[in-house]
Amino acid sequence: MLTQAIKGVKDLLPEDSVRWRKVETAARDAFNAYGFLEIRTPIIEHTVLFARSIGATSDIVEKEMYAFTDRGGDEITLRPEGTAGVVRAYVEHKLYAKDPVTKLYYMGPMFRRERPQAGRLRQFHQIGAEALGSAGPGIDVDVLALLSDLFGRLGIEGVELQINSLGCRDCRPKYRAALKEFLMARYDQLCPDCQRRIEANPLRALDCKAEGCKAATADAPDMSEYLDDGCREHFAKVREGLDDLDIGYSVNKRMVRGLDYYTRTTFEMVATDKKGAQNAVAAGGRYDGLVEELGGPSTPGIGFAIGMERLILMLPESGEDINGPELFVAALGTDAGRVALKVVHGLRTKGIHAEWDYSGASLKSQMKKADRSAAKRVLIVGEDELARGVAILRDMRSKEQQEIPIKSVIATLVNRLKVIQAIARKH
Ligand code: HAM
Repeated sequence: MLTQAIKGVKDLLPEDSVRWRKVETAARDAFNAYGFLEIRTPIIEHTVLFARSIGATSDIVEKEMYAFTDRGGDEITLRPEGTAGVVRAYVEHKLYAKDPVTKLYYMGPMFRRERPQAGRLRQFHQIGAEALGSAGPGIDVDVLALLSDLFGRLGIEGVELQINSLGCRDCRPKYRAALKEFLMARYDQLCPDCQRRIEANPLRALDCKAEGCKAATADAPDMSEYLDDGCREHFAKVREGLDDLDIGYSVNKRMVRGLDYYTRTTFEMVATDKKGAQNAVAAGGRYDGLVEELGGPSTPGIGFAIGMERLILMLPESGEDINGPELFVAALGTDAGRVALKVVHGLRTKGIHAEWDYSGASLKSQMKKADRSAAKRVLIVGEDELARGVAILRDMRSKEQQEIPIKSVIATLVNRLKVIQAIARKH
């Protein structure tokens, strides 16, 4: 127990962090280009926030939340997703009064008590975006373009964008009624969960993985036939925008999503080759009633969240590794050790990664250590060199060596590394 993490949560070791940072940096660059600003909301929120927004009959709220009563008697939940908290903050801080359209992004851990497997964890991470304040289809296209651009930037292949429209509060009730009637006629074929949810949440039956439910709902009524004129036109415009931008997609009429706040456009980025990854790598949609539901002014919204763990599983191998130090100083003897410390400190304060050996081991073992650390260069300060006021700079790749005066080591190295960095940046 003491040395074992909780089931379904994961440590990210330094070698994992390299890839995570790469994704996070690409995401920040993309968000910047599309005008999304970062918001950081708390990991704990009042339980009622999630019940109200995600839906009391959703799997998340019914079965998966880490909800508890704290020592003061408050009902608290570890956030299972990011949208509810962002919308709560949007209303609480009246962000709608500052700008007609607010575009926000976030990154961070979410918590759901699901059965852990590859790409499904109990603490997982999302990168999410929410655009609030615009009802038109243009922002849907913008948000989908951002999502697909980000996947492109990361070189991710084997994903397909699937979209659907779930209608609005005017036309969805008619569809729900038709679906309910259809399901009632097949009640005995449905799993107990779907039987129980026919009243409150019949759409979930379309998404149920149980074989009986899949067979029973194969000819279920089609939402697209129930969309009212406004919803139909909105969906057509979204598709037109995606076509204009050459963003590939398919329409998945059975996509219902597991959260109750969605209206109109919904979408998922689905892994087509399922290489150990769960199906949806990212998902989202419109939630035009949510701000009002949480006590704010009637404000439309749309957003998505990417599952980081699932995304990382799909990231192409790029061989990036933890970078070794620019310089390793190998010094022999106490006086040389003091020089080593000064050189290392001088470089570090100029932002250059430098290491030295703390152990006072032999020069040979220090060189081995330098090699293992993947240092690009080693500065050797032996007793002889020290007596002559010089040090030997060895390039670990070419094995070339040169003597440089100890006095000017820091300035020489800083200048040289800056030139190298400038050249690297150009390429
Ligand atoms: P969601 O479909 O519940 O939507 O989750 C979005 C993504 O989070 C999923 O597609 C998946 O990649 C990842 N994810 C979910 N659960 C897990 C898990 N247990 N382990 C690993 N990854 C997981 C939302 O959360 C909405 N808030 C998205 C949204 C934003 N809609 C509008 N704005």
